[in-house]
Amino acid sequence: GFGTTSAKPMAAAGGAQPVGEVTPITALETAELLREAKSVIIVPGYGMAVAQAQHTVFEITKHLREKGVNVRFGIHPVAGRMPGHMNVLLAEAKVPYDIVFEMDELNDDFPATDVTMVIGANDIVNPSAQDDPNSPIAGMPVLEVWKAKTSIVMKRSMASGYAGVDNPLFYKDNNRMLFGDAKKMLDEVLTALKA
Ligand code: TAP
Repeated sequence: GFGTTSAKPMAAAGGAQPVGEVTPITALETAELLREAKSVIIVPGYGMAVAQAQHTVFEITKHLREKGVNVRFGIHPVAGRMPGHMNVLLAEAKVPYDIVFEMDELNDDFPATDVTMVIGANDIVNPSAQDDPNSPIAGMPVLEVWKAKTSIVMKRSMASGYAGVDNPLFYKDNNRMLFGDAKKMLDEVLTALKA
């Protein structure tokens, strides 16, 4: 993808525009990666709330844990649209508290993680907060999901999140994009996992 740029116009809010191509992945391929993983970190964001995908997220978590996979959740302090938004949804879906961690508790663990699954999150996993001093979100702490062996981002399109900035994570070599509504795609992943 060197020398090519995305078709998306420069983010209105400023900052450098990511360069390269994104690599899509299917629900089936996502299930294969999850099945082969020893450790998985799930990072939920606003899109999980919109899609109401938390129950399917827990079904997938249960299935993987039964197969011996270490599954944990990484919660950013401003994930979603209100304080504690993700914690409320995960509690509603009966995700055990002892696998739900604050950002600071597991941000150093990504390099030792096989797969990170980013579910409808965007700004809270944007590496430009660290790398691009001109980014509108420069200096904001973020979950370093790109340091895992593979990151998978679930969202419907290449659209930006709340802050309106492009996300270079999507273009990284070890990142895959699972495009679609989070609930629909996770239902497909769960079906594939159970097959
Ligand atoms: P965002 O950066 O807003 O990203 C959410 C992403 O979810 C979007 O890019 C969207 O992409 C995707 N999405 C929406 N509907 C979806 C669906 N049905 N299925 C799958 N994906 C879907 O969210 P975040 O990462 O959670 O970050 C939160 C942002 O909100 C931060 O900028 C934060 O500062 C701000 N904020 C937070 C709070 C609190 S207290 N939590 C309050 C106000 C503002 P697509 O459109 O491509 O699907």
